[in-house]
Amino acid sequence: MADLTRREFAQRTLGSLLTYSLLETLFSADAFPAEVKPVAAAWLARVDAAGRDLKGEKLSQTEWQSQIEELFGQIELAELLKFIDFDQLTAELEFREQGERSLKPKFPEVEGLPTDLVFGHQLFALRKGRSVVPHGHDNMATAFLILQGDFHGRHYDRLEDDGDSIIIRPTIDESFTVGGCSTVSDHKDNVHWFKATSETAFIFNIHVLNVVEGRKTGRVYIDPDGEPLAGDRVRARRLKAAEAYKLYG
Ligand SMILES: [Fe+2]
Repeated sequence: MADLTRREFAQRTLGSLLTYSLLETLFSADAFPAEVKPVAAAWLARVDAAGRDLKGEKLSQTEWQSQIEELFGQIELAELLKFIDFDQLTAELEFREQGERSLKPKFPEVEGLPTDLVFGHQLFALRKGRSVVPHGHDNMATAFLILQGDFHGRHYDRLEDDGDSIIIRPTIDESFTVGGCSTVSDHKDNVHWFKATSETAFIFNIHVLNVVEGRKTGRVYIDPDGEPLAGDRVRARRLKAAEAYKLYG
């Protein structure tokens, strides 16, 4: 009887030790960051809904910008960093000599987050002094959220296209740090330029392409250091991407 009891005891103890060890492994590997995922997923679902409303014309482009800036101000960055597995993503990162390294975090598949998101996303990684070079956008709505580090961020309104140049006017010229955000549309702050001012710096970017169906969509590189015009305006020369990176990257 005593032997049986001892064996029984050993089996039970071993069983519970295994269970405990397994659970500990799973939790330490973040297999179940259950407390995190619903919050970030729900937040991204709202970002997605805003993008759908923009494309469905339930929101104007400037209303989308306000809504996204409000949403970007609400997310706990720690939760977003976990959701995109920031540490893993940036573990063996090689920065670029010019401009930004674009990384593509994969969102985990979780309940509540659509798998066919209307917006694209990426993570920009930059070393000090490097820039997301000055560029405007055709038929795009986009937003930046600073995840780590500091930037000198500038925006300009795109007032008028004039042949090989675009007439711009500065709208934002500020220091941006963690949690800071800004947005772009065809109607407001269309041109942006972000220069890293800390040793390393990271931006979370979302973008809605083809805001209006049937028109071309994409980046337009310019040189904001152009001919000054009346009323704080500047004639900015259009650039090829390579020239923009050479000048500002
Ligand atoms: Fe952009």
